[in-house]
Amino acid sequence: MTDTPKSTGRKTIQPTFTPRELMTDTPDLAGAWTAQIITLFPQAFPGVLGESLMGKALKDGLWQLQTFDLRDYGIGKHKNVDDTPAGGGAGMVLRADVLEAAINDARAGAKGVMPILYLSPRGKPMDQEMMRGLAANTDGVTLLCGRFEGVDERILEHFGIQEVSLGDFVMTGGELAAQALIDATVRLLPGVLGNADSAIEESFSNGLLEHPQYTKPAQWQDREIPDVLLSGNHKKIAAWRQDQSEEITKARRPDLWDAHEARLKNGKAPQD
Ligand SMILES: C[S@@+](CC[C@H](N)C(=O)[O-])C[C@H]1O[C@@H](n2cnc3c(N)ncnc32)[C@H](O)[C@@H]1O
Repeated sequence: MTDTPKSTGRKTIQPTFTPRELMTDTPDLAGAWTAQIITLFPQAFPGVLGESLMGKALKDGLWQLQTFDLRDYGIGKHKNVDDTPAGGGAGMVLRADVLEAAINDARAGAKGVMPILYLSPRGKPMDQEMMRGLAANTDGVTLLCGRFEGVDERILEHFGIQEVSLGDFVMTGGELAAQALIDATVRLLPGVLGNADSAIEESFSNGLLEHPQYTKPAQWQDREIPDVLLSGNHKKIAAWRQDQSEEITKARRPDLWDAHEARLKNGKAPQD
């Protein structure tokens, strides 16, 4: 049996019971956080999102995925989705009319609060605060994955689409950025992480980077685990971790450290 998705009309159907089978074409899981992906490569989903805790949560219906294959909305015999840039220049641009049809289809199935985001190097850099907001305040997202030179600007204006970036580098498409956004958001949804404390005590959760972690063996390559971590003194361990967390943040991310200090100065809780 093949893992390749089969398209019928505008919807992507998976004929096998692989992780892709867990994706739905309509948001029919009441209350499940929904990621709609508009992409030229629906077969790239769920990808790594079908593994481990994310895959389990998908299977358990804590969240769901819908893909919209841009090719299905293509123009003419060859289902063209792109054309040359107005004004000349290299590459191709995804057509506004093709994108409009795909977005309209996706939005017809959107329920509740579901912003449309375009993955783009020009966008607002993704951060933990953004993911916390998406997990807490939305019922899902519609994610537009670009390819080639990107999308016709008019589509962004028309739908009021916000651009979000994975970082200051350029990839060939938005799919990896979409998967990063979904992973970082879904793991914050109630019930997804086995140990809810993991999301409380980790980098960015309190505005700082995380302290170093160690595990067995106690001695490895002449290197030992810091004594305090083996002391059993939880107060001392917490103090050591906080100290390490602050030192690492100061050294590696002065921007985060300054923001942390400013929040404390204003009498705010560390992650407000
Ligand atoms: C080759 S890029 C287009 C880059 C575009 N011409 C520019 O200079 O901004 C193709 C697609 O990859 C995606 N992409 C590339 N880099 C990204 C990033 N850092 N974050 C999010 N999406 C990105 C976007 O969807 C984009 O439309």
